[in-house]
Amino acid sequence: MTYTVGIIVASDKGSRGERVDRSGEVIREMMIAYGYTVAEKVIIPDEFEELKDMMIRMSDEKKVHLILSTGGTGFSPRDVTPEATLAVIERETPGIPEAMRQASLAITPKAMLSRGRAGIRKRTLIINLPGSPKAVKENLEVVLQALEHGLDILNEKTSECATPMDQ
Ligand code: MTE
Repeated sequence: MTYTVGIIVASDKGSRGERVDRSGEVIREMMIAYGYTVAEKVIIPDEFEELKDMMIRMSDEKKVHLILSTGGTGFSPRDVTPEATLAVIERETPGIPEAMRQASLAITPKAMLSRGRAGIRKRTLIINLPGSPKAVKENLEVVLQALEHGLDILNEKTSECATPMDQ
């Protein structure tokens, strides 16, 4: 069985049909290319309650292994994706946003403006990506380097971290 992914596009304009979603599609294409199964992609407005409810539904009802959000991580008063994420997760996984921002800062100083968070709710890992297709690609490339191993541990498929090269 491959890991399933729910994609949440947080976008006021996208949800009103005023902007074609490209960022969610970048996530979909990259995840499929890496062997993941995309269970669902939704486009919802930058509303705390809607984001929260969608994360809970995807985690508790759909039981996806991974939720990737895009957008709403910046400084605009409407950007509330990190707050919705913090409201639903049980354990934070700070290393993921740390790695994303560290790698992204080598590309653009504007990477410091993303407030994205990540964490675990039950057996679902939730990761906030920034909103632009470029930022999505750059950040997802970082996450994908360790993602499968993290999901394996979360789903108790392995407790072993060492590879022959680490020993
Ligand atoms: N990270 C990478 N790798 N590449 C980028 O182009 N854009 C930044 C940042 N992170 C960017 C990035 C910018 S300009 C902003 S404002 C923040 O992400 C927040 O984006 P969001 O509000 O669309 O979520």
